[in-house]
Amino acid sequence: MEKIALQAYKNIVFFTGAGMSAESGIHTFRGKGGRWQEYNWQEVACQRAFDRDPERVLDFHRLRRQEAISCAPHAGHRVIADLEAARPGVTVVTQNIDGMHQRAGSIKVHELHGCLWRVRCPQHGVSEDPDPTFSTRRCPQCGSWLRPDIVWFEDMLDDKVVAAATRAILACDLLISIGTSAVVWPAAGYPELAKRNGAFCVEINPEPSEISDLYERVIRGKAGQVLPELFE
Ligand code: OAD
Repeated sequence: MEKIALQAYKNIVFFTGAGMSAESGIHTFRGKGGRWQEYNWQEVACQRAFDRDPERVLDFHRLRRQEAISCAPHAGHRVIADLEAARPGVTVVTQNIDGMHQRAGSIKVHELHGCLWRVRCPQHGVSEDPDPTFSTRRCPQCGSWLRPDIVWFEDMLDDKVVAAATRAILACDLLISIGTSAVVWPAAGYPELAKRNGAFCVEINPEPSEISDLYERVIRGKAGQVLPELFE
């Protein structure tokens, strides 16, 4: 496979979706075996569902934590982390909430859809919560239900995260999009923004996405196999 000529680029963004974690063993959302075939997001992944039945929503997220904790980052995650360590100007903009990039060693990671390992109290704000069993379900200070600090359907993205991710996208001259179907907005708009701003855009995905036509280079393969071949 033709390698990416890294010396030609100053700032690189890895824009990742659920397919990035697929070879680690974490389910994607759409397509065969996708999580939204088994679950209805209206029942487990929106504020209205949480208001109606917080235990059910937290049980769903407990399963997601347990799935994530039983999996490990793969060679593709490590290639991205190693690149960041080896040169300036490498950033991850991810839709994933599983923390795999950070576990592999990536530091500059903008999590557009929040993080599975944080919770939020309506009165006392955000706190870290690494417990895979989600045993603390109410705020110890006020007793309110603690919701996962992730962007559910019908939620707004965090302004600060969007601003930081947008800065990275506008600064990049190479965008590598990996494992996203590109159907969820506003995240799906980032590759086009990078392209309009002059970045060379590459897609790594075994299947076509909604925006495959946009990319200058399309690699039909899996993240864990393609990334080491492209960069090492
Ligand atoms: P999707 O599940 O919609 O798409 C996953 C993509 O990964 C598909 O295009 C697959 O073809 C591709 N894929 C599968 N295995 C792969 C592999 N080994 N290597 C590379 N690509 C592979 O996931 P997202 O686009 O991330 O929201 O979905 C966007 C958002 O929708 C998610 O962030 C999630 C969901 O509702 C939240 O969790 C808040």
